[in-house]
Amino acid sequence: MSINIKSLVLKSLVVPVLLTTVTAYANNESRFKDGEQVYAKVCGHCHETGGDIGPVLSGRNLAPAYTTAIVRNGFRAMPAFAASFVDDKALAEVSEYIEKLPAASKE
Ligand code: HEC
Repeated sequence: MSINIKSLVLKSLVVPVLLTTVTAYANNESRFKDGEQVYAKVCGHCHETGGDIGPVLSGRNLAPAYTTAIVRNGFRAMPAFAASFVDDKALAEVSEYIEKLPAASKE
């Protein structure tokens, strides 16, 4: 009896990846509750810093199509976020959320 090491190694690598992919697509739900949560958990780390890291997005009535394009493609110092991290539904929701977000009150 001979063990085919190459095939074993391949299977051990491929099977978990396939399982992860299937789970991600079968469960057609966003990992985020809504746009507000995406903003708080992802964007806010850079965009709620009073402009220190990312520019202020609130109170600017930014068009959702603009925000969506920047998040998917990146923009100069801003990294791109792939759909595997911020899915399309979450991105649409956060873009609408940002469009309507009132300017933070200055203290
Ligand atoms: C790691 C920090 C970081 C994160 C996280 C981040 N951004 Fe950014 N973002 C930036 C920086 C920095 C810029 C400015 C890029 C430049 O001008 O060089 C920017 C620019 C932008 C702009 C353009 C702003 C303008 O003035 O025109 C939009 C829109 C934007 N980000 C949306 C988002 C959204 C939505 C998220 C969450 C999904 C997000 N960003 C997450 C750092 C970040």
